[in-house]
Amino acid sequence: MAQAPWSFHSAGSLIFGNHAIEQIGDAAMRLRAKRVFIITDTTLEKVGVAEQTRAPLMKAGCTVEIFTGCLPEPPADVIRAATAAAKAFQPDLLVGLGGGSNMDTAKLVAVVLAHGGDPTDWVGDCRIPGPVFPLVCVPTTAGTGSEVSAAAVFTDTAKQIKVSTLSQFLRPLVAIVDPLLTVGCPKQVTADSGIDALTHAIEAFTAVDHDEFLQRPPGGETVYQGRNTMASGMATECIMLVGQYLKRAVQDGSDLEAREKMAYAATLGGLAFSNAGVALVHAMEYPVGGAVHVSHGAGNGLLLPYVMRYNAAVRADEMRSIGLWLAGPSAALQTFQGGVEGAIQIVEKLREDIGIPTKLRQLGVTEEMLPGFADKAFGIKRLMRTNPRMPQSAEEILEVYRAAW
Ligand SMILES: NC(=O)c1ccc[n+]([C@@H]2O[C@H](COP(=O)([O-])OP(=O)(O)OC[C@H]3O[C@@H](n4cnc5c(N)ncnc54)[C@H](O)[C@@H]3O)[C@@H](O)[C@H]2O)c1
Ligand SMILES: [Fe+2]
Repeated sequence: MAQAPWSFHSAGSLIFGNHAIEQIGDAAMRLRAKRVFIITDTTLEKVGVAEQTRAPLMKAGCTVEIFTGCLPEPPADVIRAATAAAKAFQPDLLVGLGGGSNMDTAKLVAVVLAHGGDPTDWVGDCRIPGPVFPLVCVPTTAGTGSEVSAAAVFTDTAKQIKVSTLSQFLRPLVAIVDPLLTVGCPKQVTADSGIDALTHAIEAFTAVDHDEFLQRPPGGETVYQGRNTMASGMATECIMLVGQYLKRAVQDGSDLEAREKMAYAATLGGLAFSNAGVALVHAMEYPVGGAVHVSHGAGNGLLLPYVMRYNAAVRADEMRSIGLWLAGPSAALQTFQGGVEGAIQIVEKLREDIGIPTKLRQLGVTEEMLPGFADKAFGIKRLMRTNPRMPQSAEEILEVYRAAW
């Protein structure tokens, strides 16, 4: 049966490949920019990535200022500080440089510069009234796909939860993905962000069908739409690449082939999830990430196999395919025994091989916290909607948390 019409969205343009960062000056010129405000952190300044970004902009005749105050899992106050610094500089272009945290900080600065208010005013789906301040994003991790996505995630410190702003206006005008910028990425960040990319692809590939999505509550305008063939194709390619290259990138950060393939995989994962949707893994990670100290990627990686088991009831064929793709073309016949459980075990093994925690209690989560987490996750209705098996109560989610505890 034909699907109802779907649409596909990305960054305005994507420049991909080793040394792509050298083209940022040309990109700024095409956008007619003269004053460029780079939003990044002290680590990327120290390792020289900020300078690699600044130099081509200067060469193109731009005046450049660098803000280095970004922090992981961005607290709202950091976004406020970056906004104030940007206002003082009066740029005509923002550059979000770093992992998802810095790119998302830049996205939220772009929202507030264009539409005023506070970052917390813009939480939710499709609430941004028009284009945001001109923005270029440059990832230095291979994971989030924020450079092409419609999402910006930050920590609402007062409410102790990670929150998201979603809007097609949040897709950057230009995404510059230079795999060489990820070479200095520490092992743990490589592992955590890499398994985030896998989570994006698996959640997009197993998401509710587009047609069914349209029938589900809460309705209304949304960025996510359920799965469609284009997003599924990209998710498939992402899963295969992660299966072949994530472990290599973690084991040897200077493995340029692995870095390049993971950078591509992450962008594919971003394209897939930001059209089809992420789902229960992400919904369950947000309360965990807000309450204890864990990176978004590690939290997702921990929860992923448990949610796969929950979703397998309605996505058994897809889970088997995921197992085959992760096992890879040559290994598949020898090592992959097939079946849903086999697929989940491959994800568990990968998680273990790259050092992702396997139980919530390892992160300092107590059993008493779980019911509150389940209520918060169940409250994220837009992610309940995209999950193939739609939880009917917080109790169902609590069971998954208990298994993961
Ligand atoms: N907007 C989206 O679409 C989207 C999607 C998924 C996740 N996220 C969000 O992204 C954030 C996680 O992003 P992340 O996994 O990319 O990590 P991150 O941005 O939090 O970075 C983690 C650490 O790695 C360091 N780092 C990054 N690149 C480096 C490099 N090349 N060399 C040395 N150090 C480097 C950073 O300085 C930082 O300290 C979370 O807040 C998550 O919720 C956003
Ligand atoms: Fe994610």
